[in-house]
Amino acid sequence: MLWSGLATIRIIYLQLKGRRRMAQIEWKQEFSVGNTAIDDEHEHLIEQINQLYYELDHSADSATIEAMLADIQAAISTHFALEELLMQEAEFAEFEEHREDHQHLLDQIHDMIFSFNEDPDSGRELLINKVSDWFSHHFTSFDARLHEQLD
Ligand SMILES: [Fe+2]
Ligand SMILES: [Fe+2]
Repeated sequence: MLWSGLATIRIIYLQLKGRRRMAQIEWKQEFSVGNTAIDDEHEHLIEQINQLYYELDHSADSATIEAMLADIQAAISTHFALEELLMQEAEFAEFEEHREDHQHLLDQIHDMIFSFNEDPDSGRELLINKVSDWFSHHFTSFDARLHEQLD
C-alpha cells in the first residue's frame, strides 16, 4: 500500500516535471505576422528552442547543448537581419525601438552562451529558466506589432 502510494506520487512528480520543461512554446496560427518568410523563421526558431528544452530535460551532454545554442544564435541573427531589412523597406514606425530590442536579445543570448561555457551546471538552470521568456517576450510584443505591416 505504501509502495503503491509512493509510486503514484513519483509518477505525478515526473508528469509535473515533464510538463514544466517540455514544449515550452507552442506555435499558433494567431502568431502569424502575415509574411511567409518571417512566419517560417519564427516557426523554425520555436522548434529549435523546444528541441533545446527537450535535450536539457534529457540531460544531453554539454557539446550537444553548445552546438544547439550556436545554431539558435546564428538563426536568430539571420532572422533579425531579415526583419530589419523588411521593416526598413516598409518604413515601419517602430523600426528603431524594434532594432534596439533585437540588439538586446543578441546580447542576452551571448551572455547565456558565455555562462554555459563557464559553468555548464548553473548554465543549464539559467537556460531552463530564461530561454523561453527570452524569445517569447519579444515575439509576442514587438513582432506581434509587425502583423500585416511587411507585405
Ligand atoms: Fe522575429
Ligand atoms: Fe523582431
